[in-house]
Amino acid sequence: MKLDFRFSQAATSALLLVLAAPVSLAADAPQSGASIDAGAIYLRVCSACHGEKGDANSLAQGALAKRPRNFTAPEARLRLNREYMIAIVRDGRPHTPMTGRASRLSQQEIEAVVDYIRARFMSAAPDSAPAARGS
Ligand code: HEC
Repeated sequence: MKLDFRFSQAATSALLLVLAAPVSLAADAPQSGASIDAGAIYLRVCSACHGEKGDANSLAQGALAKRPRNFTAPEARLRLNREYMIAIVRDGRPHTPMTGRASRLSQQEIEAVVDYIRARFMSAAPDSAPAARGS
């Protein structure tokens, strides 16, 4: 179990080096509020794990110790509020491949990319109408 976990972590790190190296360079450039392209940030920084369509169907998913959140699932809409998502993107989730981006993205960029995810992937889609859950 422990070995497996370490292996996944190593695989994740290796994968990240390959996938994220050009990404971080690009994302490091400070941007002013007006010129933030949240979609571009998502594609460059998040999509390798969360998938281009936000459904966690990504290149990296098989190599990650934990499956990335599928933003398009009805459950995500119920569970994830904006403030929580911003905090996760800023600080990460301990012991998961979801690391904080506070050192790479400005607060405005973090908020912009969260709003992008919410608008693009988490608003009700025709094929994922929220199931009646009785709550
Ligand atoms: C290295 C892969 C990876 C990258 C890159 C990544 N994530 Fe994640 N993310 C994950 C994983 C894995 C989880 C699930 C963590 C868990 O289940 O506790 C997650 C979870 C999340 C969550 C939800 C936390 C929850 O409680 O379910 C949010 C919001 C999120 N990521 C946003 C982002 C954003 C925005 C970016 C880009 C700035 C990003 N992630 C980049 C792997 C990644």
